[in-house]
Amino acid sequence: MIIVLRLNHRIFRDKRITSHVALTARAFLADKLYYSGEKDSNFEQSISKVCKQFGSKFEVEHCKDPVRFVKENKDKFTIVHLTCYGLNAQNQVNKLKNRNLIIIVGGEKVEPIYYKLAEYNLAVTKQPISEVSALAILLHLLNNGKELDNEFKDAKLKILESENSKKVVKG
Ligand SMILES: C[S@@+](CC[C@H](N)C(=O)[O-])C[C@H]1O[C@@H](n2cnc3c(N)ncnc32)[C@H](O)[C@@H]1O
Repeated sequence: MIIVLRLNHRIFRDKRITSHVALTARAFLADKLYYSGEKDSNFEQSISKVCKQFGSKFEVEHCKDPVRFVKENKDKFTIVHLTCYGLNAQNQVNKLKNRNLIIIVGGEKVEPIYYKLAEYNLAVTKQPISEVSALAILLHLLNNGKELDNEFKDAKLKILESENSKKVVKG
């Protein structure tokens, strides 16, 4: 099972980026997103609507106390924290395949405790990038790319590949 934990969501400033973290987590085959910070029912509903239309059992849930959440799950999950200051993800990823993971991605601020709680602090390039791109690349490496050909079996709508038009059919 792969859980993504997105820290410190702010409804006004992070609306789009937290949505993009969730949509990316879903499309790249994570199972669930927990987010801390401000509870945002509109965000939760918008992701649930995407799942109903385009499939997957992906869930979103607010997490009031992310430090406690990580501490309580340390025995069952390997804790991975994405940070540009970490070890190169590509050199560590084989140790993480087929494990239950909690992947922590930050917001504007990341409290130092997460560096200590994580078993793996991993960098996707040694450059500051976006949490969305870092998450996508890590999940892509973990999946060996299988998300690229994935189709959700419960999809009501499917997007078909097309050279020059939008093609969406009932699933
Ligand atoms: C825009 S950054 C802000 C980081 C924040 N200023 C801090 O205190 O670390 C937001 C998040 O993107 C992710 N991120 C950014 N660059 C990364 C990289 N090169 N590798 C892995 N994750 C990265 C991290 O999860 C980070 O917490």
